[in-house]
Amino acid sequence: MKTILGIETSCDETAVAIVKNRQIYSSIVASQIDLHKRYGGVVPEEASRQHLLTINPCIEEAFKTAKLTWNDIDGIAATVAPGLIGALMVGETAAKTLAMIYQKPFLGIHHLEGHIYATYLSQSNWNPPFLCLLVSGGHTSLIHVKDCGIYEQLGSTRDDAAGEAFDKVARLLNLGYPGGPIIDKLAKTGNPKRFKLPEGKVSLPQGGYHPYDSSFSGLKTAVLRLVEKLKQENPNQLPIADLAASFQETVARSLTKKTITCALDHNLTHIAIGGGVAANSGLRNHLQEAAKEHNLTVHFPPLNLCTDNAAMIACAAAEHLEKGHVSSWNLGVQSRLPITEVMELYNNE
Ligand code: KG4
Ligand code: ZN
Repeated sequence: MKTILGIETSCDETAVAIVKNRQIYSSIVASQIDLHKRYGGVVPEEASRQHLLTINPCIEEAFKTAKLTWNDIDGIAATVAPGLIGALMVGETAAKTLAMIYQKPFLGIHHLEGHIYATYLSQSNWNPPFLCLLVSGGHTSLIHVKDCGIYEQLGSTRDDAAGEAFDKVARLLNLGYPGGPIIDKLAKTGNPKRFKLPEGKVSLPQGGYHPYDSSFSGLKTAVLRLVEKLKQENPNQLPIADLAASFQETVARSLTKKTITCALDHNLTHIAIGGGVAANSGLRNHLQEAAKEHNLTVHFPPLNLCTDNAAMIACAAAEHLEKGHVSSWNLGVQSRLPITEVMELYNNE
């Protein structure tokens, strides 16, 4: 297997990693959370500027930790879509420049494909076909992984992504940013059954509900209304932990139902979870229990591989390079690109 230097700068983490044989030789993540915290969300211009400042030290650190040199590297990869344009350009330019200087192939990687490959890093014998539930700050997708680069999107969200819903609910409860980990921690001390909240079903024009699509904006509004009502009843004592637990329980139950139904309908016995929300303890508990009940295998990568990192990008690139997939120097960055169009990134001179 090829040794890849991977770079990830699609949002608010500057990350560089070296991966070979689905093994991490180094994985450096410089988080910008402290920078964006004061704004309550990611500020794109600040993110790009910070990536510029951190990228070179991160590359140096990746080599130092891995105890490898440029001679050991077979290819250089960077996330090119989807993400913040300015942020993506920093990683893409760094990767292309280094690939030109050291005469290595360059590979542009789809960020969500990276999240799929996080599973391969922690389960080295993991292979397609399987179902992947991708739940991050920007995406909520159910993807049938057929082969490297070959994906079918079976479910998505109609409005907010799962992570976005966690972040927005945390904001309306004045808990800070990013909301997911804070709500997760608070939920552990709360009663998940105290408040009944709507699961956010997506109606179909012919009647009934979409079996795999999600909608979280109604849930967010329901929490807002509930908070307003509770504040009127008792302005000094908002039951934050019970609210967090009830919200998390609703999201976890809804995602679990859709994922299990989708796997069973498509005869997929293996399920991988990816993206920041895969770190959520409520989702982990619900999915593990349901998978056991239906005799399905579910795999959650360790927490540091669920959130944004460059090891997952390098791992995806290694599989592509092994298959002879290489990107053109003309490949640019894109703020949006459906995962079904990943193969557009390769051999397109
Ligand atoms: O995958 P990721 O690191 O970045 C994106 O590509 O979006 O995901 C970040 C999202 C944020 O919305 C964050 O609140 C959420 O993942 N998140 C969590 C947890 N840890 C991170 N959501 C729920 N529970 C968690 N423990
Ligand atoms: Zn991500």
